[in-house]
Amino acid sequence: EIGGHDTYLHKEIFEQPESLARMLSGRLDERFATARLDGLGIDPRELRGFKRVKAIGCGSAYYVGQMGASMIEDLARIPADAEAASEFRYRNPIIEPDTLYVAVSQSGETADTLFAVREIQRKGGRVVGLVNVVGSTIARQCDGGIYLHAGPEISVASTKVLTHMAVGFAMLALTLGRVRDLSYADGARIIAGLKSLPEQVQQVLDTDDEIAGAAASLVGAESLFFVGRVRGYPVAREGAQKLKEITYQHAEAYQTSELKHGPLALISTSMPTVAVVPNDELVDRNIGALQEISARGGRVLALTHEGVNLDGLDVQRINVPDGEVELQVVLLTVALQLLAYHVATQLGRDIDRPRNLAKSVTVE
Ligand code: BG6
Repeated sequence: EIGGHDTYLHKEIFEQPESLARMLSGRLDERFATARLDGLGIDPRELRGFKRVKAIGCGSAYYVGQMGASMIEDLARIPADAEAASEFRYRNPIIEPDTLYVAVSQSGETADTLFAVREIQRKGGRVVGLVNVVGSTIARQCDGGIYLHAGPEISVASTKVLTHMAVGFAMLALTLGRVRDLSYADGARIIAGLKSLPEQVQQVLDTDDEIAGAAASLVGAESLFFVGRVRGYPVAREGAQKLKEITYQHAEAYQTSELKHGPLALISTSMPTVAVVPNDELVDRNIGALQEISARGGRVLALTHEGVNLDGLDVQRINVPDGEVELQVVLLTVALQLLAYHVATQLGRDIDRPRNLAKSVTVE
């Protein structure tokens, strides 16, 4: 037993309300409706000059980079995307002087991410870090950054640090937005949303028993789909990744919008779908896709928000609080962490030390 928890993974998932509150404290500037990110070391005029943002990281850090890119496009209206650092570094990437590169890493020691950072810098690019481990190699190599302050993470599969990465991106998006066209009112709305996050994450954790029940229906499935679109897609990718890592069940993430262009052929009673359904402008389209899956005999577990009406649909649901649309990914991600944990527990897996994986991969 680890402080009342059966595993580090469980402990780390349940630490999040507290660790998030700590991360946010002192970083929200209510007077100017922005974030205070002194560690970035970039003045507002320079910040305004970036024409593009590119996040790089490996594994889950890459998927959170994709969540972050959406937040930046939503709040700052700057083109943003994410790429696996392991691919980026080997493809002779074109480095643009007016792109802000963001290296995302829990350990700060992942070789692929570190080499990508050096490659960007060698070609004159500016890289900031979203890193958890203070004084780590990537943190020191970057030109500035945002420390995640999540505390140590022992379990190989990352949970709380991912949530912190997403919140770090939200603060970066807010800051980039407020030196551009994001209004004071919208900035204040995001600040209020960030302040509510620790409590809302606690509400997700309070549905633990319900999530354990839902997990039971996924145990033993030969393969699963995790689907989401736009903001929900990286959440689905991360959900599938977590499930694969700790349960050894096969899961494939797909864009909900692309299902009908191919993989719908795989839907059957033996292939359950976990659907990420944010309460955003695409909710009706997502509901339509869920109907198509159930009409083909596919079981659906919808990860969604209290305010989403799924009446008349034959789906199981897990609800997270509503929250600001740009921040919903945080709550959905936490629910998927618990889902993977419960499937793995019910299968009797070695939760903290999954086979074949290392916490950080410092070799090439
Ligand atoms: C992988 C770990 O090898 O590295 C993943 O198993 C992790 O859990 C990835 O997401 C990136 O690690 P880091 O430390 O750079 O965030």
